[in-house]
Amino acid sequence: MRSADKDRLHDGGARLILAALALLAIPALAGEPPPPSHQKYPAPIQLYVMNCWGCHKPGGEGIPGTVPRLRDTVGDFLHVPGGREYLIEVPGVAGSALSNAEVAEVLNWMLMTFSKNQIPPGFQPYTEAEVAKYRPRELNNVQTVRAELVSKLAAQGIKLPPQ
Ligand code: HEC
Repeated sequence: MRSADKDRLHDGGARLILAALALLAIPALAGEPPPPSHQKYPAPIQLYVMNCWGCHKPGGEGIPGTVPRLRDTVGDFLHVPGGREYLIEVPGVAGSALSNAEVAEVLNWMLMTFSKNQIPPGFQPYTEAEVAKYRPRELNNVQTVRAELVSKLAAQGIKLPPQ
């Protein structure tokens, strides 16, 4: 085979490879949504499973006497001043390995999943910026702060179920 023929053959191969690559790239060019594995962070339920449910349990029931239940409870904190921030500042949340955006996601998911009926009207979902603002104030006196919030809630006639 003459060397010019070999070159032509090589060119043909290269063109085929380029064509195949172009075909592969078409879905991306068409602006198709990336597959779920390309999401910025895992779905909120996964964030909860990986970071919270060891203590708060699958149904948000907590561990009586040790870890507060979230179910039918946690949304009550949104009714008193300081309560919204408290949910960001508790050590299990503020000190978690999650990014600020992930904390906002998991808090919104937690409230809607476990405590929808307690959420006050007009509730605005947590945002990444809000988490960034309050997270550095992680509580080291969580029981005192919680007790203050619980008594503010009681003054409004909202009684948290026993832990
Ligand atoms: C190591 C166990 C543990 C993990 C993990 C944990 N928490 Fe907690 N959480 C607690 C305990 C204990 C409290 C009670 C306050 C305290 O002592 O820190 C609490 C309090 C809370 C509260 C306030 C509820 C109340 O009634 O005072 C919220 C909200 C909360 N956790 C959410 C979460 C979320 C969301 C995650 C996952 C990102 C998480 N926690 C991870 C143990 C944990």
